[in-house]
Amino acid sequence: MKITKNKRREFLKTAGSSALFTALGTSFFSSCSEAEETIDEISDDEKTEENTETSVGFTVDGSVYTIDLNHPSFSSLKIQGGWKRFDQGAMLIVNVGQNIIRAFTSVCPHAGCRTSWGYSNNNFRCGCHGALFNNQGSVLSAPGGTGDLDSYTAVIENNTLIVSK
Ligand code: FES
Repeated sequence: MKITKNKRREFLKTAGSSALFTALGTSFFSSCSEAEETIDEISDDEKTEENTETSVGFTVDGSVYTIDLNHPSFSSLKIQGGWKRFDQGAMLIVNVGQNIIRAFTSVCPHAGCRTSWGYSNNNFRCGCHGALFNNQGSVLSAPGGTGDLDSYTAVIENNTLIVSK
């Protein structure tokens, strides 16, 4: 269990030191030193890192991905025809021009391959068995019974792409 600095301070304020020593004896000192070790592990940088832009170019809040299009990992999406297989979000993302970026699942609806995707001539191709989808996610050719790619809402705001799954 991690104890933050504020919780520890609050605990010490409300307990009162003399009552605390009487009640807990030496065990107080041992548990206090464990708490100190835990506090040392939580740096200010670590606390703020959770809620700020990361070095990987995206943040995720529930099912919403906020992607920095200026980050080298995503800058290919700034030009028409640029695309990316975004494994952390299990997505295929493509710039189809006219300031429109689309996002789809990277889980192939045929048999679930995720990492064999290619993109050319405005189509996605799954390398596992050759399924072909257009840049709207519609299946063009595939083994029998294969449906379209699930698509997600993708909105561009300045140099940020927000994808909601
Ligand atoms: S899993 Fe993609 S074509 Fe079979």
